[in-house]
Amino acid sequence: MNLHHIVESQQFTVPRIMELFERTEQMKKIVARGGTRDYDNKIMATLFYKSSTRTRFSFEAAMYRLGGKVLSTEHAREFSSEIEGEVLEDSIKIIANYSDVIVLRHPEEGGAKRAAAISPVPVINAGDGAGGQHPTQALLDLYTIFSECKTLDGLSVAIIGALDLGRTARSLAYLLSKFDRVKLYFIAPKGLQIKQDILDHLDEKGISYHLSESPHNIINKVDVVYQTRIERERMAKSDTDITKYNIDSSVLQKMKYDSIIMHPLPRSVEIAREIDNDPRAAYFRQTQNGLYVRMALLTMLFDNNIQE
Ligand code: CP
Repeated sequence: MNLHHIVESQQFTVPRIMELFERTEQMKKIVARGGTRDYDNKIMATLFYKSSTRTRFSFEAAMYRLGGKVLSTEHAREFSSEIEGEVLEDSIKIIANYSDVIVLRHPEEGGAKRAAAISPVPVINAGDGAGGQHPTQALLDLYTIFSECKTLDGLSVAIIGALDLGRTARSLAYLLSKFDRVKLYFIAPKGLQIKQDILDHLDEKGISYHLSESPHNIINKVDVVYQTRIERERMAKSDTDITKYNIDSSVLQKMKYDSIIMHPLPRSVEIAREIDNDPRAAYFRQTQNGLYVRMALLTMLFDNNIQE
């Protein structure tokens, strides 16, 4: 059965992930030669009800590099008919008349699922709600880990932040659970730890995990540090000294020489700029991979190549 929409990362099997990575390598070559015209009959609509820099720009750049065209609204709350009270389902039905794929960022958890349920064209979840998912971010994160660490099996990964509502952390945990001997460390302030549904899934898959309120004695032994945004207001509620989660040059000294630091971005204070030039700082390479992975995903949808 063909996969018509990309809503959550659990949809991606290991063979499908490997197919995506092979295509991603091809996309790097296509971008290096300036792009292709192969998809010049395709139109992508980007419908963003919440702000975005990386996801929207990289999807739009991906479409242009494939030769396609883009219809876009970056503040759908103000610049779409939602302001007149139009419901999401109506907006999707209408935009589907004008486009071949819809990339949606919606403020409600489950927004992408609602859109996918009625859309005749593929819907790609570009982030739903706080605590939903961001599957294409997790796929580009996984690709970055694969390309930097040369494997996905046997890795130790520390995921840090306010993880209860961390949609990138949630989507990545689902993807990492598909690989052998992966060990996950969830590091979050009290009350903001990853939710039980993810832990239940990891238990089901037999994945080893550890929960902690502190990065100490963990950061020195992992292969990947996946830092996420520290929101001051939420941290304040947890009565936690947020500086203990920051990564700066003193933390870097404790990390393995061949480990990597990732972040979906945007960052606030949780990664000091002083470490940006360290070879282990992979977060800008990660954003570059976002372009290639999203090109690959679009071609998989357009070529009707993703099998359920
Ligand atoms: N990582 C991410 O989703 O970034 P944007 O909010 O800029 O799209």
